[in-house]
Amino acid sequence: MKIELLLEPLVLITHTLPEDWIASLRGKVRAVAGPENATQLAPELADLLGEAEGLFCLLTIPVREELLERMPKLRVVSNMAAGVDNVDVAACTARGIPVGNTPGVLTDATADLTMTLLLAAARRLPESAQDARAGRWKTWSPTGWLGADLRGATLGIIGMGKIGRAVAERARGFGLRLVYTDTASCPDVEAALGATFLSLDELIRQSDFVSLHCPLTSETRGLINETVLREMKPTAILVNAARGPILDTTALTRALAEGWIAAAALDVTDPEPLPPNHPLYSLPNCLIVPHIGSATRGTRKRMAEMACENLLAGLEGRRLPYCVNPQVYQAK
Ligand code: GLV
Repeated sequence: MKIELLLEPLVLITHTLPEDWIASLRGKVRAVAGPENATQLAPELADLLGEAEGLFCLLTIPVREELLERMPKLRVVSNMAAGVDNVDVAACTARGIPVGNTPGVLTDATADLTMTLLLAAARRLPESAQDARAGRWKTWSPTGWLGADLRGATLGIIGMGKIGRAVAERARGFGLRLVYTDTASCPDVEAALGATFLSLDELIRQSDFVSLHCPLTSETRGLINETVLREMKPTAILVNAARGPILDTTALTRALAEGWIAAAALDVTDPEPLPPNHPLYSLPNCLIVPHIGSATRGTRKRMAEMACENLLAGLEGRRLPYCVNPQVYQAK
């Protein structure tokens, strides 16, 4: 008689996450997790690549051909993020491996952070808070710390996806005029939010605030470069809560230092994290926060839960509920 020993599938979780975020995996997988703040694949996980059937990863872990080659048994990649630019999706598709992400759930948190950045930069919060703390607040100064007006100013949204729309909804409440650009116009957004579709060039010329919400792809890498920054209004404020490499860091540093634009507020950078001695940190008109767009308790827990749903579906041979390469199912 042949006795088969059925073990739960081995899953590598690149980071240690709170138990209750990944509770649905209990009893269904053998999970091995890397450290909480892993910046790369932990050595103890690297040793298990050959046996792992599932990969649960965060956006800081590149999932490229070199890694996939070492994972012959891999059946699902579950990325705990909306963006999947850290994953070579085409390489996964070629191997028939479904890739999951966590769309939608972080829309509100990221749009809220975008408005926080926009408002903080418009009203010069970092500089004024620093001045207050350092004893430079001597009196109510009629001309001190003057910032930008929002009502009637124009906000240019680059990328009118879920997050771009959520930003547009919020911005309307502040009386901003909305213009946007994308690969095609979105008539429903125009009707619902009164946003006007423009070419990138025109948007850049008209906008007092520019906010990036497109994914990082080969088309959008370096989209906001020196030429674009030089076309912006000298009073303009640029917000990036999308992906760092959409914006050319060297050109931005010059733009802020030389006054081509007034200020920038960044949740994402290139490289990421930005090294502590980077010149951008020394510019008073640049606000940088450490990629916290989705960092609310509820959002991050829900992202982990969705990533678990994707992981389990992949291991059980079901269609991933949130799949970025559904072509893998057509091919079968
Ligand atoms: C965060 O940046 C994400 O893409 O989920």
